[in-house]
Amino acid sequence: MQTKRNIVNIVLVGFMGTGKTSVGLELAGMLNMYFIDTDDIIEQDSNMIIADIFTNMGEEHFRNLESKAVEKACKLSQHIISTGGGAVIRDQNIQNLKSTGMLFHLDATPEVIFQRTKHETQRPLLKVDDPMGKIREMLKNRDPFYAKADHRIDTSQLTVKEVAEKIVEFYKLNNNPK
Ligand code: S3P
Repeated sequence: MQTKRNIVNIVLVGFMGTGKTSVGLELAGMLNMYFIDTDDIIEQDSNMIIADIFTNMGEEHFRNLESKAVEKACKLSQHIISTGGGAVIRDQNIQNLKSTGMLFHLDATPEVIFQRTKHETQRPLLKVDDPMGKIREMLKNRDPFYAKADHRIDTSQLTVKEVAEKIVEFYKLNNNPK
């Protein structure tokens, strides 16, 4: 059953390297809202960096911390909530996020994601021999989950500002509380 929605936040979902953090910060400035990132909540609450949580405790443990971080973020209002790329794979997270925010799926082609993430060392899921193959496979698996967002934006050819402007436009047109 769809939970009742009270849209007081903007939520960014999408794969690693699609610009959630940079777009989120830009949006916060444009709309005079606060910015929060569920990965930052996890790191602050556990006092560990994401890569170490994956290495020492495993992905399932990370996902549990992520669900808690999502719950925490959803209690806020007037926030741009940026989520980790895998937050959408648990349906409860999507329900929680949707109850409080309008969800924007930031997308990009595998090639662009690869270019944007190839020098990164902080994303444990992409530290593999064939990151391009892994990106394609994960995008395919996650697409049905990302599709649950309210609106999708392909960021491949857009600047951070252009993406943020598109979000503001859609948000203002579609968020008219009665
Ligand atoms: C992950 C994405 C990362 C971070 C973790 C797992 C994923 O966040 O949560 O490394 O499963 O896609 P970003 O999307 O902000 O890089």
